[in-house]
Amino acid sequence: MGTKKRLGVLGSGKGSNCAAILEAIREDRLSAEIAVVIADQPGAGILDLAAAANIPAHLLTEPRYRTRWSPEVEAQAVTLMQEAAVDLVVLAGFMRVVKEPLLTAYPGRIINIHPSLLPKYRGLAAWKQALEAGDTVAGCTVHYVDCGVDTGTIIAQAEVPILPNDTPETLHARIQKAEHDLYPRVIGQLVASA
Ligand code: GRF
Repeated sequence: MGTKKRLGVLGSGKGSNCAAILEAIREDRLSAEIAVVIADQPGAGILDLAAAANIPAHLLTEPRYRTRWSPEVEAQAVTLMQEAAVDLVVLAGFMRVVKEPLLTAYPGRIINIHPSLLPKYRGLAAWKQALEAGDTVAGCTVHYVDCGVDTGTIIAQAEVPILPNDTPETLHARIQKAEHDLYPRVIGQLVASA
């Protein structure tokens, strides 16, 4: 058995995917460790999760842009992850587009989870787009991150049904449940084959 691969988790929101990854690690379903957590929003759930689990955590706010970090701030994230010897960068509800220098620092080693069956419904509130389109199946996708928005190579997907009485909230909850199962499993497969 080699040393465990080290994850760097980036997030902006409530942090339920990060919680699912931590739970999978605690329950020995995922052989990896979260080496560092970085949030771009004060109050992001992943900061509380990290504090409770004694994981180093950092807040990197961005005063200039809403949808990306400036190269200077992104460079700070890269430094923090390099100092933490991160092997795989895991976006867990990170609401900014990844740019340089992060893409170059971790080529082919940045992944994201998106709440749709890509390539359908890139971007925000993808579950609403599926509902409004009248689809009967929705789901989530784990993919590699490239310079586009939800455009990177697809790694794995999970489907959920869209039920006749679904609201955006009920459908989103069903998709998130699928995410919490899929993401730790895919991370486990990636770190096992690295
Ligand atoms: C997830 O639904 C994920 O698909 C999207 O952002 C959401 C993050 O949720 N990229 P959480 O912060 O992990 O609860």
